[in-house]
Amino acid sequence: VNIILLGPPGAGKGTQAKRLVEGRGMVQLSTGDMLREARSSGTEMGRRVADVMDRGELVTDEIVIGLIREKLTSGKEAGGYIFDGFPRTLAQADALAALLDELGQSLDHVIEMRVDDEVLVARITGRATCANCGAVYHDVTRPIPADGACAECGATEITRRADDNEDALRTRLLAYYKQTSPLIGYYHAKGQLESVNGLAAIEEVSAEIAGLLGQQT
Ligand code: AP5
Ligand code: ZN
Repeated sequence: VNIILLGPPGAGKGTQAKRLVEGRGMVQLSTGDMLREARSSGTEMGRRVADVMDRGELVTDEIVIGLIREKLTSGKEAGGYIFDGFPRTLAQADALAALLDELGQSLDHVIEMRVDDEVLVARITGRATCANCGAVYHDVTRPIPADGACAECGATEITRRADDNEDALRTRLLAYYKQTSPLIGYYHAKGQLESVNGLAAIEEVSAEIAGLLGQQT
């Protein structure tokens, strides 16, 4: 099955995507991760998007659609895709529909993760990520182990994102409400929208998503 996780910054998209990868062998396609990878490997495109990302604005549709197209057309993945942080605009949603169509694939679930703005600031400013395996930590809800080593892979480089500060977060939230939230109506109109309570504990959110996906993989 192919699914979209839809929600504002800090809703828990990446956290739940990682759990689906482990539990069901699905493939996570995070455009945010792809863009950060392009930056750290110093590609021309990575340099072009760096400032935009650090401010918290969206990069162009053309770039992210290109990234997704590349992954989908080169992949032979059996477990299904989790679109994490994509699509983020109506143009991206249309492009995804066309791409899946072209590949003879379906979009099976669009899962909105509902949260309140108040929790997002605390979640984002407390976040840290393992530079090696991408495991996500939080100063309060999932602290980095006392020895400073990642609980998943043992690596000791645990980093914080450049856009995880209050200023950039404000811009990211604005971008979400202006450019991305119209997708809720878009998928609702297609009869594809489902939602989960993103304010619940991580395990409970996973259980709710599992309930929507059933035994399908
Ligand atoms: P991206 O990397 O996609 O960031 P985002 O959408 O802002 O989402 P986050 O990764 O911040 O949040 P998340 O929902 O994954 O939360 P997480 O699970 O980590 O995008 C970054 C930038 O790239 C964009 O601003 C833009 O510039 C660009 N970009 C990317 N895609 C693009 C696109 N399609 N088009 C244009 N531009 C694009 O959780 C957050 C924290 O909360 C963690 O610490 C976690 O441990 C904790 N947490 C998670 N769940 C819970 C829970 N249930 N209870 C308590 N704590 C929890
Ligand atoms: Zn790790």
